[in-house]
Amino acid sequence: MQSSVGNRGKDPVAKGGMMLVRLGFLIALIIGLGILTGASWASAALQWHMLAGVLVLIGIWTATIRLATQKRSGMGPVWAAAVLGIVGAGLGSAAMSGAVSGIVHMVVMLLTIGLAEMGVARANKA
Ligand code: HEM
Repeated sequence: MQSSVGNRGKDPVAKGGMMLVRLGFLIALIIGLGILTGASWASAALQWHMLAGVLVLIGIWTATIRLATQKRSGMGPVWAAAVLGIVGAGLGSAAMSGAVSGIVHMVVMLLTIGLAEMGVARANKA
């Protein structure tokens, strides 16, 4: 089995998780940019933005737990993405109450996606 411990190939479950990350990110980013620019359709779609964003977090955590279970090396950026994603989502709700700028929320989520893509690609090779 490709997914067994000690196998150093690309993991199919982590791959599925990252597909979810990309799909959710695309939807969350489009709606998020709509909110940022004050588009009325986008503020009405805030629950879809949050749903897509939560799918991103589920995808990252799926890949993280899976690769960690296989004791892959180079997991640092993957764990960082998993934790930063939660922090970034929290900043989203803080942005809603006006406590932080929505830009900060967006930048943290962009960093999260970058770390996840980079980390999972590296851990998949390890
Ligand atoms: C996945 C990547 C994500 C990106 C790129 C992203 C990006 C954005 C952007 C650009 C905005 C508009 C900011 C503003 O005008 O204030 C926004 C707003 C918001 N986001 Fe996200 N977001 C993401 C994920 C999430 C997640 C996971 C949650 C929480 C479950 C979330 C919750 C919110 C909320 C509540 C707002 C409204 C803030 C406001 O009313 O100003 N977002 N997001």
